[in-house]
Amino acid sequence: MSAWKSIKHKGEQQMPRLAPSILSADFSALADSVAKIEAGGADLVHCDVMDGHFVPNITFGAPIVKSLVGKTSLPLDVHLMIERPDERIPDFVTPQTEFIVVHQEACVHLHRTVQLIHSFGIKAGVALNPATPLGALDYILDDLDLVLIMSVNPGFGGQKFIPVAMEKIAQLSEMREESGLNFAIEVDGGVNLDNAMSLIANGADILVAGSAVFGAEDVTARTREFTKLIHF
Ligand code: DX5
Ligand code: ZN
Repeated sequence: MSAWKSIKHKGEQQMPRLAPSILSADFSALADSVAKIEAGGADLVHCDVMDGHFVPNITFGAPIVKSLVGKTSLPLDVHLMIERPDERIPDFVTPQTEFIVVHQEACVHLHRTVQLIHSFGIKAGVALNPATPLGALDYILDDLDLVLIMSVNPGFGGQKFIPVAMEKIAQLSEMREESGLNFAIEVDGGVNLDNAMSLIANGADILVAGSAVFGAEDVTARTREFTKLIHF
């Protein structure tokens, strides 16, 4: 039995996945960047969309996300840090979009937003900021494919992991086990080679890593270090 199987929750057993965030990649050479992480065995491409309102930073929108289609065979994990996401969700529907993740704090009608994502045949995720309690998802958990636990305040790459997020992941994993649900748990912010295995041991299934991957001199080699660690 591989290491991850012995520490996983009782629900559907899935191998942990690595989702490098292109936020820390060279924006002038995105196709090269995704090729590098693909060569290193990454599982998803995490796309951080920021609008300068919900978070104090602006990154890119749907044209950039769509430009990745066909440049990589990896599925896209679209993290929308934007206000009024319903207006934009259709723009991020591509043949390679696996997840669209919205923020609980940005959605007045979260149930409707989740249904909208599902109406395109795409998996729906909801992200929680560090100060948002897990209970905010009590009445929507059944409908979710993924919960993203923010382990930094969203807006920027390269921030320090907020330690209490580890406990939050463990609690969410326990809730998942008790309820018999099997949504994926994703963690985003300050993830690195040192905390990756603890995050997985506490219940995380998808690790987002921006600066820890793209900050390396050899991005493919660093991606491989991560994937070797978490896939076995
Ligand atoms: C933060 C973004 C993250 C960010 C993570 O708002 O949602 O995806 O890129 O970057 P690191 O891994 O550098 O903390
Ligand atoms: Zn993100």
